[in-house]
Order: sequence, then C-alpha cells, then structure tokens
Amino acid sequence: MAQLWGGRFTKETDQKVYEFNASIGFDKRLYRQDIEGSIAHVTMLAKQGILTVEEKAAIIDGLNSILADVENGKLVIDYKYEDIHSFVEANLIDRIGDAGKKLHTGRSRNDQVALDMRLYTRLQVKEVDELLKELLEVILNTMEENVETYMPGFTHLQKAQPTTLAHHYGAYFEMFKRDRLRMYDIFKRMNYCPLGAGALAGTTYPLDRDYTAQLLGFDGPTLNSMDSVADRDYLIEFLSALSTVMMHLSRFSEEVIIWNSNEYQFVEIDDAFSTGSSIMPQKKNPDIAELVRGKTGRVYGALVSLLTTMKGLPLAYNKDMQEDKEMAFDAFDTAKDCISLFTGMLATMKFRKERMATSAMNGFTNATDAADYLVNKGMPFRDAHGVIGRLVLYCIEKNTSIDALSLEELQSISDMFEEDIFDAVSLKTCVEKRLTLGAPGPDVMQQVIALHKEYLATEQIWLAE
Ligand code: ARG
Repeated sequence: MAQLWGGRFTKETDQKVYEFNASIGFDKRLYRQDIEGSIAHVTMLAKQGILTVEEKAAIIDGLNSILADVENGKLVIDYKYEDIHSFVEANLIDRIGDAGKKLHTGRSRNDQVALDMRLYTRLQVKEVDELLKELLEVILNTMEENVETYMPGFTHLQKAQPTTLAHHYGAYFEMFKRDRLRMYDIFKRMNYCPLGAGALAGTTYPLDRDYTAQLLGFDGPTLNSMDSVADRDYLIEFLSALSTVMMHLSRFSEEVIIWNSNEYQFVEIDDAFSTGSSIMPQKKNPDIAELVRGKTGRVYGALVSLLTTMKGLPLAYNKDMQEDKEMAFDAFDTAKDCISLFTGMLATMKFRKERMATSAMNGFTNATDAADYLVNKGMPFRDAHGVIGRLVLYCIEKNTSIDALSLEELQSISDMFEEDIFDAVSLKTCVEKRLTLGAPGPDVMQQVIALHKEYLATEQIWLAE
C-alpha cells in the first residue's frame, strides 16, 4: 500500500478497505492527463514565485521521465498505489527527492481528478467527432452513387412509398451530423479548467488560474471552486450524446439486419464483416450489426449509472464520484469501437439493386401516386383515396399490382383513368415527382448532397487549439 495521507492515522488500512477504496485499476488510464496537468500546475507555481525555477525544472524532468517510462513499458502502473495521482507523485519523489514533495502545493486530488477527467473526456469528444466524420463520409459516398437506386420506404415496417437508397441513407446522415454538432456543443461548454479549485474552497497561495487554463488549452478557468470539484455535468452530457449515437447506430443496425434477412436480401454484407454458424453451413450472420445493437444497452447503462450516482450528492466532492470512471470508460471504448466497425461494415456492404427495385414495385408503394393522379384529373383527394383503396383490394384479389392492370380494368373502377396512368405510377415517375426539398427526387437530392459535401469539407474549429 502506498498512500499520500498516512500522517493522521495510527493504524494500517484494512486490506479489503484499501482495495475497495482504490481506483488505480481503472484511473491508470489517466496517467497522461495527470502528468500534463501537473506540468501546467508547477509551471504556474514557478511563475508565481511559489516554486523556484530549479524546482520547477526538476519536477518537470521527473514527470516527463515517468511519462516516457510508462509509455515504453519500463514503469508499470501497479496496484501498490491507491490511485493514479499517488502513483505519479510517489514515483516523482522516488526519482527527484524533496523537490517532488512540492508538486502538490496549492492543489488537492479533488481538483486534480476533476481536471484529469475533463482533459481525458475532452479528447474523447474529439475522437468520437472524428469517427463520426468518417462514418458520414461513407454514408455520403453511398448517397452519391445511389440517387437512382429505388427501394421501398416503410411506415410500420410495411411498404409505404417508393424512395431511393440515397434518400434512406440521407436520413442517417442527418442523425450523425446532429451527433457531431452535439460533440461540438459539449466541447464548448466543458472547456473550462477546474485546476486551482483545491479541495473545494480554492487555496491561500496566489495561483494564476487563467495561466494554467491557458497552458492546458481551456477557454478559461471555472468560476466557482465548489462546483469545479463537484461537477460531472460535462460527462453526463457526453454519455447522453454517446447514447444518442448508439441509438442511431442501433436503428441503422436493425435495418441492416432486416435488409440482410432471407426474406429481403437487399444487401450482401462483406465476408470480412460477418461470421458463420458452427452447425448451419448456409449461415452468414450480421454479427457486427447485432453486436452494435446489443452494446447500445451498455452505453445507456453508463449514463443512467452516473445520473444516479450524482443525484443525491451534497456539495462538494464525495467519494461516490470515483464511480464516474469505470462505466464511462467502458462507454467511451464501446461507442468508439461501434462507430468504427459499423463504418467498416457499411463501406464494404453491397446492395442488390434489382431486388430493392422489385420490392419497391410490389406492395402498392405507388398507391398515393395513383390517388394524386386522380386528383390532378379533378377528383377531390378524399374520393381518390377511396377509389384507389378499392383498386388495391381488386389487385389483392387478383394477386397483381396497379401498374400491371389493363386500362379497361382501371376504367371499370374509375372512368377518369387514361393511358397516362401507367407512366404516372411507374417507379421512376413516383420517385422523380417527389421534388420538395428533403424528398428523394433526383434534383433535390443532388442539392442536398452538394450541401453535405460542403459541410464535410469544412474543418471543425474547436476552441482554444
Ligand atoms: N480516486 C478519486 C476519484 O476518482 C480521486 C479523488 C480523491 N479525492 C479524495 N478526497 N479522496 O474521485
């Protein structure tokens, strides 16, 4: 056991208590942020005359050597230390002696951990944004190539109206674009530095908090020291945004699974992104999509867990808050893996365009268009709806489709049908006529694709780079 706080105690900590209390098993992944924060802190302490320039240099050298040795595997972060902060400080003192004991001047582990977690989360926000951008690029490529790839659009999982693959993918483009915007918003709101808040009430040393905030790439220091150590809102916001990303991925996964089913056969998932069955030789399973759908629950779990942990906490720091890490880290890893694997699966997935078009032709997806045809001939829409309803019933009885009927059959239902009905209800016409902005018509689809291209070509400007 290596602890920072033995002075007041007369007995050793019980081993089980020590283990229950320790966070090194999971906060070890914060080593880089912990060192980065410490370097900024001592740089500021020296600028303020609280440490000498020599002490600062010795501490920074020591911290950098710890960082290098952890990265090259010479120094293993082991369970002997209570947490990552103790590990770094104890190793620093081992390496440079007394100067190392000054590192923690004017700082508490409460503002230290608040800083580490914020630095780490800030990096994750950017990484997720980058992965979402790659996903959007794959979606947009597919859109560009499939403006005229027809497929049925669904409501209630029943064929509703014809649309295109570009249009269907376009819906997901919107979702993941909003997810990126959420990343940006979260980043902007979270990018304030809690270092200098101390345990809860600041410190009596003349710290320059603006300076450390600036050194660490923050937009400024936080303004209330109690909130600084007690706030995990940024993490809740990020987990919430990740949950939304997962919800979108899960819906998309569900569609891929349906499209891949024997009944649909709209897509062919690449061999590299599917697996077989140990017993049924014919099987090729959409595992990635299923796993992404399944892992969504884990990310939601992290969000609900943290919300619940925080809900009863009085100000300021409470040890409960140590529980902000494990599930959040799992959620970060899970969401990033899911986005990147899903992107790979989409990038290699093939479409069976004829099957999709045939499917769009069956199932009366042109029924609305047939009703609109009668409206154009002068029939009120409600009457046209009734006529086409009877027509659909007639087709169901005859096991045929509207476009396969003869003109005589059509006219036996309404004398307003003329020869031009066949063109009006053809798949191509049905899609091409949908010309409102946001619809699958090719002209408006091209306009939207151009806007998306422009959007993806614009670099995300994060504040304070
Ligand atoms: N391991 C702790 C955490 O993750 C670090 C802060 C400890 N602070 C304290 N007063 N015990 O929250």
